[in-house]
Amino acid sequence: MTTLTIYPDKDPAHPDVVTSDPAEITALLDKVGVHYERWKADAVLAPDASHADILAAYKTEIDRLSSAAGYQSVDVIRITPDNPNKDALRTKFLDEHTHDEDEVRFFVEGSGAFYLHLGDKVYQVVCTRDDLLSVPAGTLHWFDMGPEPFFTAVRLFISPDGWVANFTGDKISSSIPRFGEKVAA
Ligand SMILES: [Fe+2]
Repeated sequence: MTTLTIYPDKDPAHPDVVTSDPAEITALLDKVGVHYERWKADAVLAPDASHADILAAYKTEIDRLSSAAGYQSVDVIRITPDNPNKDALRTKFLDEHTHDEDEVRFFVEGSGAFYLHLGDKVYQVVCTRDDLLSVPAGTLHWFDMGPEPFFTAVRLFISPDGWVANFTGDKISSSIPRFGEKVAA
């Protein structure tokens, strides 16, 4: 289930907001300049759908967003729990960073959590199937795919070559509850 949790960055044990209402999530993210929407596939996707099938199924939405925001390229990423590099993949974007362009992800299956550090709050957005989230360029954030990662996502880029992480060195991500891990009692 898609969930937005807003944590005070200095007091993550006491979230201000926890909601799974899509309209409320959209409104709360819009208020801080973060674009979120839900897409529906034009066609039913088979469980073994290829990357090309996935892009074809969402072509209308991908084309609409690309022409509106100037995204030049698109690809599909799929990570499953049997991936031998899952720990390294999870760690890669687990510390606070920014990008020089928007980080745009549309979830086709599975789930993953974006954490947006906005002022003195951290917005955790657990994205699931049909969620499109665009993290604006320059926004402090990190991404947690969890210890048993499972998701397929469409990625939209202005320039994939330029899509690199600029790490801030701030260790805040380790103080906010991780995605998919049991919280110690
Ligand atoms: Fe990122």
